[in-house]
Amino acid sequence: MASRIPVIAGNWKMNTDLESGINLVKEIVALSNAVSGVDKIVCPPFISISSVAQSASGSTVQVGSQNVSANSDGAFTGEVSTSMLRGLVSHAIVGHSERRALNGETSEQVAAKAIAAAEAGISPILCIGEDLSVRKAGNAATFVADQLEASLAGYSDWNSLIVAYEPVWAIGTGEAATSEQAQEMTAVCREVVRKLAPDAADSVRVLYGGSVNSGNVAELLTQPDIDGALVGGASLKADEFSKLIAAAGSK
Ligand code: PGA
Repeated sequence: MASRIPVIAGNWKMNTDLESGINLVKEIVALSNAVSGVDKIVCPPFISISSVAQSASGSTVQVGSQNVSANSDGAFTGEVSTSMLRGLVSHAIVGHSERRALNGETSEQVAAKAIAAAEAGISPILCIGEDLSVRKAGNAATFVADQLEASLAGYSDWNSLIVAYEPVWAIGTGEAATSEQAQEMTAVCREVVRKLAPDAADSVRVLYGGSVNSGNVAELLTQPDIDGALVGGASLKADEFSKLIAAAGSK
C-alpha cells in the first residue's frame, strides 16, 4: 500500500477576527512548526486569509479557504474565485455539510468547485457525510458512496484530492464517530476513488472529521484508511490543535 502523509486541517468556520486569527496561527506555528511527517493546514475566514498566510509564511503551516467559487469571474456577488486565492492558499474546503445544508450546495456544484480549485493548483478538501436519519436507516455507506461519486463527477486531478468523511451527526456535537465507524466509512470513500481512478485510490488521503480532539485522535489515526482529520472546534485552540498535529506526525 502506498504510504500516505497524514493531514491535520483546521476549519475555523465563522470564528476569529483579523487580530485573533493572526495570533492563533502564530501560536500554532510556534508550537507545531518543527513537527514533521504531517501536512498542517489552517482554513481561516476569507477576510483573514491574506494576513494569516503572511503570518504563516516561511513556516510549515499551510493555509486553505473554507469555500471557493466554481466561476472564474463576473457577476457573482459575495463570491471568491480561484484566481483571487491563488498564491494565498494551498487548499480549499469544498462541499462542507454546513454549506450543503445552509447554502443549498448540491454535489454537482461541489464537483464544479473541486474541479475549479484543482485547475488553479489548489488542492480540494472535498467533504461528504451522512446525517443521523440516514445512519439510523442503515444507509450510511450507500449514501456516502453516492454523494462522493456525484461530488467527483468530471474530476480528474487525483494527486491533489483530499477527501474528508464528516458525518453530520458528529460535527460540533462532541459525539465523534467510533474509530470502527470512521474506518468503515473512510474505506468506503477509498473504494469510490478506486472505482473512478484505480491507480489513485491508495495514494489519495481520506480524513475523518466530526468532534475530533486530543482525546480521540490517536485512536482514529490507528485505523488503516484514516489519513488525518478535518477539525472544527479543536482547531481554534493552538495547544489543542498542535496536539492533533503531534499525534498525526507520529502516525
Ligand atoms: P468539529 O467540526 O470538529 O467542531 O466537529 C468539524 C468540521 O465541521 O469540519
